[in-house]
Amino acid sequence: MTSPDRERIISGTALPDEQTFEYSLRPKLLREFIGQQKVKDNLAIAIQAARARGDVLDHVLLYGPPGLGKTTLANIIANELGVSFQSTSGPVVEDKKDLAAILSNVERLQVLFIDEIHRLPAQLEELLYPALEDFHIDYVVGQGPAARTIKLNVAPFTLIGATTRAGLISGPLRSRFGIVHRLDFYTAGELEIIVHRSAEILGIGVDEDGTSEIARRSRGTPRIANRLLRRVRDFAEVKADGRITGPVARAALEMLEVDHYGFDEVDRKLLLTIIEKYGGGPVGVNTLAASLSEEVDAIEELYEPYLIQIGFLHRTPRGRVATPLAYQHFGIQPGSAQNALF
Ligand SMILES: Nc1ncnc2c1ncn2[C@@H]1O[C@H](COP(=O)(O)OP(=O)(O)O)[C@@H](O)[C@H]1O
Ligand SMILES: [Mg+2]
Repeated sequence: MTSPDRERIISGTALPDEQTFEYSLRPKLLREFIGQQKVKDNLAIAIQAARARGDVLDHVLLYGPPGLGKTTLANIIANELGVSFQSTSGPVVEDKKDLAAILSNVERLQVLFIDEIHRLPAQLEELLYPALEDFHIDYVVGQGPAARTIKLNVAPFTLIGATTRAGLISGPLRSRFGIVHRLDFYTAGELEIIVHRSAEILGIGVDEDGTSEIARRSRGTPRIANRLLRRVRDFAEVKADGRITGPVARAALEMLEVDHYGFDEVDRKLLLTIIEKYGGGPVGVNTLAASLSEEVDAIEELYEPYLIQIGFLHRTPRGRVATPLAYQHFGIQPGSAQNALF
């Protein structure tokens, strides 16, 4: 069972104690950003062209699972453009007044970053459209018959939206982004470079075997790679001479209950529930969430994308299905576990 006090390896955002640490590990330039080559190539050209014209960069939408570098990339874009960066997030902007205040204060060419943009209240989108298209807002003051609309100018700026749920963004909002990129899970090789780079910045001794062990178990996710590196370092300092070798990394990760695939207990429980309780599926995500005592959102945003990516889970119109690979992983014969728990 996952208790709330047990620190999770897999989480949607930086844990509270991690924020300064994440900040220190964040690449500041495109060329320091590992992987996502196509995204980087496209952004580099758009940034260079905007700079050369002294013009504003098109609005950018970045989407993909948590921890893959959306916030990092948004910061890099502002940095490479040589403009200021202002950050807010969908749930924080509560009403039109908040948004109007933000928009009327943007500086010329700056980046306004809205994290979790899918959680921006729908009624605020209308205020945003004219600001994105021709840089003004129509703001209603007063109420009833005394209400009037005033038009406020907004400086030309670049909106960068980030979301883990591109599907939840309305069509009209999505169409306002000229540049749209999906971030993919990283390869083990890319994660090795990231672990190596982070170890260097943090002054951690780690050999090749230790690096690759951490990289392989990071679920394709830089945030998890950095998190595991820190946890393994703690273990290495207490149980060994501080240096992260292959055996030290393996022992540490075993203690953290992170298996060869980087699965934690929720991943394992999710797959085993489908296999053992629902005959391999299909099972609806709501039923699954209830069985696991997890939020539907957590399953859809944190757990499923990686399990789907590595071919352990399929999403079908009728629900989630465990694949033969998943059966193999647990050493279960397909068919044998049918209704095992009933
Ligand atoms: N491509 C990358 N190269 C190096 N480090 C990265 C990369 N992407 C992400 N990171 C690291 O992972 C951490 C999480 O990235 P972040 O941008 O906060 O993810 P997201 O906003 O998508 O959840 C950052 O602290 C950063 O150090
Ligand atoms: Mg982020």
